[in-house]
Amino acid sequence: MTCPVSETIADIRARVARSRADGLSVALVPTMGALHAGHESLIRAARERCGFVVVSIFVNPTQFGPGEDYASYPRSPEADLEACARSGAAVAFMPQPAEMYDPPSLTVVSVPSLSGTLCGASRPGHFEGVCTVVAKLFNIVQPDQALFGAKDYQQATILRRMAGDLNFPLEVVVCPTVRETDGLAMSSRNRYLSGGQRAQAVALHESLLLAGRLAGQGERSAGRIAQAMREHLARRAPDGRIDYIQIVDPDSLADVDTVDRPVQVLLAVRLGRARLIDNMRVDAARPDR
Ligand code: PAF
Repeated sequence: MTCPVSETIADIRARVARSRADGLSVALVPTMGALHAGHESLIRAARERCGFVVVSIFVNPTQFGPGEDYASYPRSPEADLEACARSGAAVAFMPQPAEMYDPPSLTVVSVPSLSGTLCGASRPGHFEGVCTVVAKLFNIVQPDQALFGAKDYQQATILRRMAGDLNFPLEVVVCPTVRETDGLAMSSRNRYLSGGQRAQAVALHESLLLAGRLAGQGERSAGRIAQAMREHLARRAPDGRIDYIQIVDPDSLADVDTVDRPVQVLLAVRLGRARLIDNMRVDAARPDR
């Protein structure tokens, strides 16, 4: 079982136009391939919402910084097409870099006030690359809905804001993080983990659960919660190098000192070659959410 492929902007536009003429609504699931169960759940959710689902599979060079893993990013086109087909995609849009960036884009889309913190602080230019490619995909496919995973919380927040600010006529839908049975958030980069690192990686989710428990027990200091998470990670993931642990306002992404309202707890940890991210909403008033 495989999925039809479209490699050019003209072709994907023609396919979308035909589906619209048939009365179908259109969803877009932007991905960089190396699809896993998290992506498949996005595609299934898209299929429940819209009659025609486009999955873009494009390892976007402009969102990788110098020395990052663009060249070695996992690529598995055949398996990806099978995953697209079994989850309900109508077509996979798989452009070559030249189709997207020749001539090179002189235009950059950015949401500066949300992009300089968290992952943006250690990956300068990353979110400009993400916003620019996603804006291009929105214009190429012109979907009614676009679906993203909540694991990339900052990305989803930025893209929702971008879509609103630029009046893209579509709904940005953010779907829950899909986890392995031990809690590790699914990610294409989990494939970089050795057996030992994989065992330690579960500490990210554990530390988020710990933050929720502490807030539920009445701890209001974001600093003390972050410190407890740091200590947990030091114990359970001794090979991990913490990039950040931050407790922020869920909309503005500004740091919060006092956990007296719903907050988003986010972390990034490097384990070997992998840079893992995860996050959780913590609402002290409703600790079991
Ligand atoms: O989340 C991703 O896989 C990428 O950042 C995205 C949204 C497909 C843009 O390249």
